[in-house]
Amino acid sequence: MEKEEELHESSTPCLHLVSAFLACEPPDFVVSFARDFGGGSITERVQSFIWNVCIKKSDVKCNLPYLKRFLKKLIVEIESNGDVVLDELYEKYIYCLASVKDDELAKGSTRMLRRFSFLFPKDCSQPSSFQIFRKLEVTLQCSLNMLEGDTGCSIWPSGLFLSEFILSFPEVFSDKSCLEVGSGVGLVGVCLAQTNCSKVILTDGDLSTLANMNLNLELNQLGTDMLGHTQRNNTLQCLYLPWESAAENELREFMPDIVLGADVIYDPLCLPHLVRVLAILLKREDLNVSHLNNGCKDSYPPDRRCFESEETSSAGELDIYGDPHAEHLSPVAYIASVIRTIDTFNYFLSLAEKEKLLVSDITETMKPLDLLPYVKSYQRSNVRMFKISYLYK
Ligand SMILES: C[S@@+](CC[C@H](N)C(=O)[O-])C[C@H]1O[C@@H](n2cnc3c(N)ncnc32)[C@H](O)[C@@H]1O
Repeated sequence: MEKEEELHESSTPCLHLVSAFLACEPPDFVVSFARDFGGGSITERVQSFIWNVCIKKSDVKCNLPYLKRFLKKLIVEIESNGDVVLDELYEKYIYCLASVKDDELAKGSTRMLRRFSFLFPKDCSQPSSFQIFRKLEVTLQCSLNMLEGDTGCSIWPSGLFLSEFILSFPEVFSDKSCLEVGSGVGLVGVCLAQTNCSKVILTDGDLSTLANMNLNLELNQLGTDMLGHTQRNNTLQCLYLPWESAAENELREFMPDIVLGADVIYDPLCLPHLVRVLAILLKREDLNVSHLNNGCKDSYPPDRRCFESEETSSAGELDIYGDPHAEHLSPVAYIASVIRTIDTFNYFLSLAEKEKLLVSDITETMKPLDLLPYVKSYQRSNVRMFKISYLYK
């Protein structure tokens, strides 16, 4: 899964082309990388590269429907430019036409393997077109149908953002036990396992999503032994945790230091249950609140709102009662979210306020690195990152 590759002879456009193809990015985007790589047209050299490096390297058997769409787009682009298409590409396209039936695709249960390469620049002094990268490759089985597995079998932008956040700030997770709600394909769990966190608990309320998540952990060598230990010395568990029926005493036993979630704020019917779960996980009954008050001049003014936008928050982040030590004692949640409907988000905030949760927008103050520059389908500017903690007064 983790691969150090010195790409001395590779230019950044070439790396972006391969990475975008293996991540099954929309064919339009991959073809435009191919054009950039060829300096404006998809030359025979570029086509040979696509054949030898992209197509031969990919798990073609699983991804024939994607390959069919990609080759169609590629061939149309080359022909419309008056260039010659390599025989291998034609033959592969004909093979795809014969193998993939459109009615199978229409059923929408088709799975595919997407390989995401998180690219860490190794030497920032190089010009951007010839960077050397360290790569973390994560392979995920996901569905072409966005609603399959109660939405949990697709990749969502907030999941990519939260993964970049974890890999950009690994120290935040060091020695911490982490629990994710609505984990979906398990990408966040794979990234957490790369940090020094002590424990990872991935949860979801959909059983088919959990089965797919388990498969993805194995695809990334994160299967566990009898004691739940991964090869990387942290423990990892996948649990069925529907927010509606999660019992309070069961939730209290987890005692995570950090709660995570990506793209979980979208269904108004689920929100009261989600917020209840967050409040139970974030409130520590055993925490000595009087200690937290020591050294604090003021408690929260009674009229203080429970939402801190970046404009209203002094540092973009808050600690309980302004005590700099409190953060080490009290759990926090990092929730990445695309605000699709402002009413739904405001509803989430009002529920959070009732549960005494303080929600701070930290998108600009803790900006993750852009580790997926070739994933053009992912609009990172649409994702906000919220830090949430329990207000003890
Ligand atoms: C939009 S997906 C996001 C998945 C993943 N976090 C990501 O960003 O790729 C929402 C996830 O929340 C889970 N979910 C939705 N409602 C839930 C509920 N009531 N209880 C537990 N999980 C739920 C779904 O099964 C799904 O995996």
